[in-house]
Amino acid sequence: MEKGLALIKDDLQKVEEEYKKRLVSRVPLITTVAEHLVMSGGKRFRPTLLLLSARLCGYQGDDHIPLAGVIEFIHTATLLHDDVIDNAEVRRGSASANTLWGNEASVLVGDFLFSRSFAMMVEVGDLRILQTLALATTALAEGETMELVKTADLSITEEENLELIINKTAVLISAAARIGAILGKAPLEVEDALAYYGLQVGIAFQLADDCLDYIGEKEALGKEIGSDLKEGKITLPLIHSLGHCTSEERKEIQEIVQSDEFPPDGLQKAISFIKKYNGIDYTFAKAQQYISEGKNKLMTIPPSPEREAFLEMADYVVERRI
Ligand code: IPE
Ligand code: IPE
Ligand code: MG
Ligand code: MG
Repeated sequence: MEKGLALIKDDLQKVEEEYKKRLVSRVPLITTVAEHLVMSGGKRFRPTLLLLSARLCGYQGDDHIPLAGVIEFIHTATLLHDDVIDNAEVRRGSASANTLWGNEASVLVGDFLFSRSFAMMVEVGDLRILQTLALATTALAEGETMELVKTADLSITEEENLELIINKTAVLISAAARIGAILGKAPLEVEDALAYYGLQVGIAFQLADDCLDYIGEKEALGKEIGSDLKEGKITLPLIHSLGHCTSEERKEIQEIVQSDEFPPDGLQKAISFIKKYNGIDYTFAKAQQYISEGKNKLMTIPPSPEREAFLEMADYVVERRI
């Protein structure tokens, strides 16, 4: 991500100040909980995309700063809610908000972040940007709910998983890239190319995350390993392996996923199983295909340092270990 970060370093610093300013509330608990998560770090992948896209499209105003704040706030709100749903104990290398303040506070502060985001968007007052973000947050809620419905369901197909990933993750990343183009009043072909790039990169981003949930390191990732399996989330490394295994093996995985008490050797068994059927390699190869699709689309727009940075960010998504 270095090239991108170098180009928008000053803007990103302004966005950090924006977070602080916009987390103020008359209810101190809201500020405490929200600041805990926002200030614990995070890659800032989505705001970086938005700022870079605005720059690529020659935007000269100031609205990209609050809008980059909005995209990170929406992302942060979903993390607060997601950690309640997933019973996550660690996030961004610190204890999760639900661990420190409970599920109730996490849900409510997530709602606050969503509402504050919409107030910030309305201040900017661009109806197409509002529409883009309204569609993205709707998709997000649908994606998270699709995932809930499919909990511990070993019959989930690769296509169903893709639809879920597009909605819960890729649409917001795509929105980040589109908003920069809307701000810069780019021609519709350029806007659509950037949004398409964001969608493809977003799909790859979640596929890589689903691999890292099996093979990553807790310290680097800043979250627990193996939590998808524990929570009954059947992601692509497992879906692929289940499509090639014996009925005995399938039964064994079913027992692990559906057991009331997660067995202590459950994760190790699942990892060996996924290794045997190359589930991780398969998923990374798929992610790489989406990355190539996204990069190819970007080649339709004129070359620039920003375009170079976008190409590098695409590769980062599958190379990252954090
Ligand atoms: C985590 O997103 C949720 C997913 C979509 C996988 P990030 O990996 O961008 O999390 P932070 O913002 O860097 O903590
Ligand atoms: C991303 O999925 C969830 C959101 C879009 C909020 P995950 O559940 O895989 O994200 P992590 O692994 O908890 O960060
Ligand atoms: Mg989660
Ligand atoms: Mg995950």
